[in-house]
Formats: sequence, structure tokens, C-alpha cells
Amino acid sequence: MEISIIGASGKIGTAISVLLAKEKYVRHINLISREKSLDKLKGLKLDIYDAIAAEELDVEISVHDEKDLSVVCNSKITIIPAGAPRTGDMTRLDLAKKNAGIVKRYAKDIGKTCDTKLFMITNPVDVMTHKALIESGYDKSQVFGLGTHLDSMRFKVAIAKYFNAHIGDVRTRIIGEHGDSMVPLISSTAIGGIPITRLPEYKDFPYNEVVDFVKNGGKRIIQLKGGSEYGPASAVLNVVRCIANDNKKYLTLSTYLDGELDGIKDVCIGVPVVIGKKGIERIVPIELDEKEFNDFKKSVEIVKRYWNEVKGI
Ligand code: 2OP
Repeated sequence: MEISIIGASGKIGTAISVLLAKEKYVRHINLISREKSLDKLKGLKLDIYDAIAAEELDVEISVHDEKDLSVVCNSKITIIPAGAPRTGDMTRLDLAKKNAGIVKRYAKDIGKTCDTKLFMITNPVDVMTHKALIESGYDKSQVFGLGTHLDSMRFKVAIAKYFNAHIGDVRTRIIGEHGDSMVPLISSTAIGGIPITRLPEYKDFPYNEVVDFVKNGGKRIIQLKGGSEYGPASAVLNVVRCIANDNKKYLTLSTYLDGELDGIKDVCIGVPVVIGKKGIERIVPIELDEKEFNDFKKSVEIVKRYWNEVKGI
């Protein structure tokens, strides 16, 4: 499989590149960035070659300037973490206005000539997924964002630690905005198949404290080490593997809703989807409890407000 990464020189793009280079189904990776970062990508290419040699793996890596995106026409998946990272007192809306123009140019160029899957990482990812969908002109099954899959991993860690369970035994999910209005689904959380609400420890579960900790996961890492990289990159790998192996897993990704969930339309937001070789194969019409549904509707309204601010950029 050939994969392109636009914005490969950033923290997350670099981590994705290194992880993907070690995947046996990956034959070619295009590292793409602005001209000023091309030397960094040439160094990354050499560094990755050394890393995979140690594991006797073989992959072709090429470096390209983002001025010519025709190279992605050969890619099954084009991963886009490109854009300004959130800094300091920047609001998500400030970030959206800054990154919408970047995503528009890439998606428009690619949509004109190429047939690839657009996998959005750029934040705010829900609105950037919507921008990529509209500007590329692609079918909604071919354009998706990391959404709340990473948040779901953070919630999984918190559940495992509180209940002293093995991380592999925890199944959970967060839906909604990849942001402050995200919605943890206790109703979809189980350990070893046992709903956590049926475990004795649940009666003292510090729900608000745990949810706040998860909601602020990205911000906390920015404050401590300047930004996340391995968490997002590993979450991206989950998705790419599902496409490569046609796993048809239920992951929570940002995708375009057209009425599939309680009639909610015209928004890209984190919902359970089946992801396989064709991309987003379908949205899972999950049943929510009353609080979860009300919180999800609030999250939809917040993302729609951001979208209305940037759709015209
Ligand atoms: C995060 O939450 C970068 O949005 C990503 O770490």
C-alpha cells in the first residue's frame, strides 16, 4: 500500500511516518511538507531507513513539496495532520479559521485529479473533516477524521487504572466533538464484557473527575511536552490497519452525518462507524441513554457553530 502524509514534518506527522514505516503492508510513504521543512523530511527519511533496517524491513520513502500534490494520486490513504497547532490562549475557533484555508487548498487540489481516502488529523478535526469533504467533492465514505478515537483511548486508560483492569479487557467509547463537549459513553463501557455499571467499584467511580481528565488530555500534554505525538499516531495506525486489512472494526471517527443518527444532519462529528478497505462503510446507529443523547445533541450544535464560522473560508 502507498500512503501520503501531508504535514509529515510536524510532531504528529513525524510519529505517524515512523510507525507506518514498520507496517508490513506499507510499501511506499510520501512525506509531504512546505518547502521550508523539506530538509527536515530528507533527514527523517534517512533516519527512518536506519530504523527499519534494524528490523530488516523494507519500504520506499520519498519527499515532496506540498506545492505539487499529484503524488497522492497513487496513495490509497492521504493522512493530513498539516496546519497550525493550537497554542496558548488560541481558541478552537481561532484555530479553525487559521487551518480552514490550508485544508481547503489541499482538498480542492487533490479532489480535482486524485482518487484517495482523506484522513484528517488537523484540528479542530471535526470542522476540518467537513472542510475536506466539501472542498474535495469526494463521497463521504472517503473523507474521515480521527475524531474521538484518541479520546476513547484516553478514557480506556482512565477506566483500566481506576478498576485496576488490563487495558486489553476494557471496551469503551467517547462520541461527539474532539473537544470540550465530547461525550463519554458509560452505557458502552465494559471490562471483560461486564458493563462497569454492574461492578461494585462503580458506585464510587469519580465520573466528573475522570471525564475532565480525559477532556483535557491534549491540552495537558501540550503544556507538559509541547504537544501530543505518539497517542495520535498510534490512534491513526488503528484506522490505517483497519483499511489495510479490511477489519471492519467499530471505531469512533469524525464522519459526515446525513440523518443516520436520530435525524442529525450536515455535521462532521465523532460517531461509531464501521471502517474497512472501502473507508467508512457505515455509521452504527447506536442507542444512547437520555443524558448521553442530550449531551451529544449539545456537542453537535457546538460543532455546527464552528462550521458556520469557517465554511465560507
Ligand atoms: C490531541 O488531543 C492533537 O488533538 C490531538 O492530542
